[in-house]
Amino acid sequence: MALSTGYHRVRTAVFISGTGSNLKSLIKFSKSKKSPISVNFIISNNPKAKGLNYAKKFKIKKTVLNFQNKILSENKLLSILKKNNIEMICLAGFMKILSKNFIKNFKGKILNIHPSLLPKYKGLNTHEKALINKEKYSGCTVHFVNSRLDSGKIILQKKVKISENETVESLAKKILVQEHKLYPKAILKIFNL
Ligand code: GRF
Repeated sequence: MALSTGYHRVRTAVFISGTGSNLKSLIKFSKSKKSPISVNFIISNNPKAKGLNYAKKFKIKKTVLNFQNKILSENKLLSILKKNNIEMICLAGFMKILSKNFIKNFKGKILNIHPSLLPKYKGLNTHEKALINKEKYSGCTVHFVNSRLDSGKIILQKKVKISENETVESLAKKILVQEHKLYPKAILKIFNL
Protein backbone atom coordinates (compact mmCIF):
# COMPACT_ATOMS: atom_id res chain seq x y z
CA MET A 1 0.00 0.00 0.00
CA ALA A 2 1.35 3.39 -0.88
CA LEU A 3 0.73 4.63 2.61
CA SER A 4 3.09 7.24 3.83
CA THR A 5 3.15 8.67 7.32
CA GLY A 6 4.61 12.00 6.24
CA TYR A 7 5.02 13.94 9.45
CA HIS A 8 2.04 12.63 11.34
CA ARG A 9 0.70 9.37 12.65
CA VAL A 10 -1.94 7.94 10.38
CA ARG A 11 -5.31 8.49 12.04
CA THR A 12 -6.87 5.06 12.48
CA ALA A 13 -10.29 3.74 13.50
CA VAL A 14 -10.59 0.26 14.99
CA PHE A 15 -13.84 -1.65 14.43
CA ILE A 16 -14.85 -4.22 17.06
CA SER A 17 -17.79 -6.39 18.08
CA GLY A 18 -16.61 -8.09 21.27
CA THR A 19 -13.81 -8.34 23.81
CA GLY A 20 -11.43 -6.03 22.01
CA SER A 21 -8.16 -7.69 23.00
CA ASN A 22 -6.74 -6.91 19.54
CA LEU A 23 -7.98 -3.33 19.96
CA LYS A 24 -6.08 -3.15 23.23
CA SER A 25 -2.89 -4.40 21.63
CA LEU A 26 -3.29 -1.87 18.79
CA ILE A 27 -3.80 0.98 21.27
CA LYS A 28 -0.69 -0.08 23.18
CA PHE A 29 1.27 -0.29 19.94
CA SER A 30 -0.01 3.11 18.77
CA LYS A 31 1.48 4.66 21.88
CA SER A 32 4.93 3.29 21.17
CA LYS A 33 7.57 5.50 19.57
CA LYS A 34 7.83 3.39 16.44
CA SER A 35 4.11 3.35 15.63
CA PRO A 36 3.09 4.97 12.33
CA ILE A 37 -0.56 5.09 13.49
CA SER A 38 -2.67 6.64 16.21
CA VAL A 39 -5.97 5.10 17.30
CA ASN A 40 -8.47 7.94 17.16
CA PHE A 41 -11.80 6.19 16.94
CA ILE A 42 -13.47 2.97 18.08
CA ILE A 43 -16.53 1.70 16.23
CA SER A 44 -18.71 -1.15 17.43
CA ASN A 45 -21.88 -2.69 16.03
CA ASN A 46 -22.54 -4.16 19.48
CA PRO A 47 -23.45 -1.80 22.34
CA LYS A 48 -22.40 -4.49 24.84
CA ALA A 49 -18.95 -5.06 23.36
CA LYS A 50 -16.48 -5.21 26.25
CA GLY A 51 -13.89 -3.56 24.08
CA LEU A 52 -15.86 -0.31 24.21
CA ASN A 53 -14.48 0.18 27.73
CA TYR A 54 -11.10 0.95 26.17
CA ALA A 55 -12.62 4.13 24.73
CA LYS A 56 -13.08 5.54 28.21
CA LYS A 57 -9.86 4.11 29.57
CA PHE A 58 -7.71 5.57 26.80
CA LYS A 59 -9.86 8.64 26.06
CA ILE A 60 -10.65 7.59 22.52
CA LYS A 61 -13.86 8.64 20.75
CA LYS A 62 -16.39 5.88 20.13
CA THR A 63 -19.61 5.27 18.26
CA VAL A 64 -22.01 2.33 18.25
CA LEU A 65 -23.96 1.65 15.06
CA ASN A 66 -26.31 -1.30 14.97
CA PHE A 67 -26.02 -2.12 11.25
CA GLN A 68 -29.67 -3.24 11.19
CA ASN A 69 -30.01 -0.99 8.19
CA LYS A 70 -26.59 -1.50 6.63
CA ILE A 71 -26.80 1.33 4.10
CA LEU A 72 -27.91 3.86 6.70
CA SER A 73 -25.33 2.72 9.26
CA GLU A 74 -22.52 2.74 6.73
CA ASN A 75 -23.43 6.20 5.45
CA LYS A 76 -23.47 7.53 8.99
CA LEU A 77 -20.19 5.80 9.64
CA LEU A 78 -18.56 7.26 6.54
CA SER A 79 -19.56 10.74 7.55
CA ILE A 80 -18.24 10.25 11.12
CA LEU A 81 -14.94 8.88 9.84
CA LYS A 82 -14.53 11.70 7.31
CA LYS A 83 -15.39 14.34 9.92
CA ASN A 84 -12.72 12.91 12.20
CA ASN A 85 -10.13 12.71 9.42
CA ILE A 86 -9.77 8.94 9.74
CA GLU A 87 -7.34 7.65 7.14
CA MET A 88 -7.10 3.96 7.93
CA ILE A 89 -9.34 1.25 9.40
CA CYS A 90 -8.33 -1.84 11.37
CA LEU A 91 -11.02 -4.49 11.74
CA ALA A 92 -10.44 -6.38 14.98
CA GLY A 93 -13.06 -9.01 15.66
CA PHE A 94 -15.66 -6.96 13.78
CA MET A 95 -18.53 -9.32 12.91
CA LYS A 96 -20.24 -7.33 10.16
CA ILE A 97 -19.43 -7.51 6.47
CA LEU A 98 -18.75 -4.11 4.95
CA SER A 99 -20.32 -3.25 1.58
CA LYS A 100 -18.40 -2.72 -1.66
CA ASN A 101 -19.31 0.95 -1.52
CA PHE A 102 -17.91 1.38 1.98
CA ILE A 103 -14.68 -0.41 1.09
CA LYS A 104 -14.31 1.74 -2.04
CA ASN A 105 -14.24 4.81 0.21
CA PHE A 106 -11.17 3.47 2.04
CA LYS A 107 -9.63 1.60 -0.84
CA GLY A 108 -6.44 -0.23 0.20
CA LYS A 109 -6.70 1.25 3.68
CA ILE A 110 -8.72 -1.35 5.54
CA LEU A 111 -6.96 -4.21 7.32
CA ASN A 112 -8.41 -7.26 9.04
CA ILE A 113 -7.08 -9.95 11.34
CA HIS A 114 -8.41 -13.45 10.86
CA PRO A 115 -7.79 -16.48 13.11
CA SER A 116 -6.64 -18.98 10.47
CA LEU A 117 -3.91 -19.44 7.91
CA LEU A 118 -5.81 -17.95 4.97
CA PRO A 119 -6.81 -18.95 2.34
CA LYS A 120 -7.76 -21.87 4.57
CA TYR A 121 -10.87 -21.49 6.72
CA LYS A 122 -12.47 -18.23 5.76
CA GLY A 123 -15.50 -17.08 7.73
CA LEU A 124 -16.56 -18.35 11.15
CA ASN A 125 -15.55 -21.30 13.38
CA THR A 126 -12.01 -21.45 12.05
CA HIS A 127 -10.55 -23.36 15.01
CA GLU A 128 -13.26 -26.00 14.88
CA LYS A 129 -12.67 -26.48 11.15
CA ALA A 130 -8.89 -26.80 11.62
CA LEU A 131 -9.37 -29.43 14.35
CA ILE A 132 -11.97 -31.41 12.39
CA ASN A 133 -9.59 -31.52 9.44
CA LYS A 134 -6.79 -32.74 11.71
CA GLU A 135 -4.49 -29.92 10.71
CA LYS A 136 -1.01 -29.94 12.23
CA TYR A 137 -0.87 -26.16 12.18
CA SER A 138 -3.24 -23.25 12.29
CA GLY A 139 -2.54 -19.59 12.98
CA CYS A 140 -3.58 -16.08 12.10
CA THR A 141 -3.46 -13.74 9.13
CA VAL A 142 -3.48 -9.97 8.70
CA HIS A 143 -4.77 -9.00 5.27
CA PHE A 144 -6.13 -6.10 3.28
CA VAL A 145 -9.91 -6.06 3.00
CA ASN A 146 -11.55 -6.32 -0.39
CA SER A 147 -15.16 -6.98 -1.27
CA ARG A 148 -14.83 -10.77 -0.93
CA LEU A 149 -14.86 -12.24 2.58
CA ASP A 150 -11.37 -12.87 4.05
CA SER A 151 -9.88 -12.80 0.54
CA GLY A 152 -7.79 -9.63 0.30
CA LYS A 153 -4.04 -9.56 -0.15
CA ILE A 154 -2.20 -11.20 2.74
CA ILE A 155 0.24 -8.97 4.65
CA LEU A 156 1.57 -11.34 7.33
CA GLN A 157 0.79 -14.72 8.82
CA LYS A 158 1.87 -16.55 11.96
CA LYS A 159 1.78 -20.32 12.20
CA VAL A 160 0.78 -22.02 15.46
CA LYS A 161 1.32 -25.73 16.14
CA ILE A 162 -1.77 -27.73 17.03
CA SER A 163 -1.02 -30.10 19.91
CA GLU A 164 -2.47 -33.56 20.41
CA ASN A 165 -5.12 -32.69 22.94
CA GLU A 166 -5.99 -29.36 21.44
CA THR A 167 -9.51 -28.01 21.96
CA VAL A 168 -11.25 -25.13 20.21
CA GLU A 169 -10.74 -23.07 23.37
CA SER A 170 -7.06 -23.86 23.85
CA LEU A 171 -6.31 -23.22 20.19
CA ALA A 172 -8.23 -19.93 20.20
CA LYS A 173 -6.23 -18.81 23.23
CA LYS A 174 -2.89 -19.75 21.69
CA ILE A 175 -3.70 -18.03 18.41
CA LEU A 176 -5.01 -14.88 20.10
CA VAL A 177 -1.66 -14.38 21.82
CA GLN A 178 -0.03 -14.42 18.38
CA GLU A 179 -2.69 -12.12 16.91
CA HIS A 180 -1.73 -9.43 19.39
CA LYS A 181 1.85 -9.48 18.08
CA LEU A 182 1.01 -9.97 14.42
CA TYR A 183 -1.29 -6.96 13.92
CA PRO A 184 1.32 -4.36 14.95
CA LYS A 185 3.98 -6.18 12.90
CA ALA A 186 1.73 -6.12 9.83
CA ILE A 187 1.16 -2.39 10.27
CA LEU A 188 4.89 -1.76 10.45
CA LYS A 189 5.28 -3.84 7.30
CA ILE A 190 2.78 -1.89 5.20
CA PHE A 191 4.55 1.34 6.15
CA ASN A 192 7.89 -0.23 5.23
CA LEU A 193 9.08 0.14 8.83
C1 GRF B 1 -9.98 -12.68 17.09
O1 GRF B 1 -9.65 -14.04 17.15
C2 GRF B 1 -10.04 -12.20 15.67
O2 GRF B 1 -9.08 -12.78 14.85
C3 GRF B 1 -11.41 -12.66 15.27
O3 GRF B 1 -12.22 -12.40 16.39
C4 GRF B 1 -11.41 -12.43 17.58
C5 GRF B 1 -11.58 -11.11 18.26
O4 GRF B 1 -10.99 -11.07 19.50
N1 GRF B 1 -11.82 -12.07 14.03
P1 GRF B 1 -10.83 -9.68 20.29
O5 GRF B 1 -12.20 -9.01 20.31
O6 GRF B 1 -9.81 -8.86 19.59
O7 GRF B 1 -10.40 -10.08 21.67
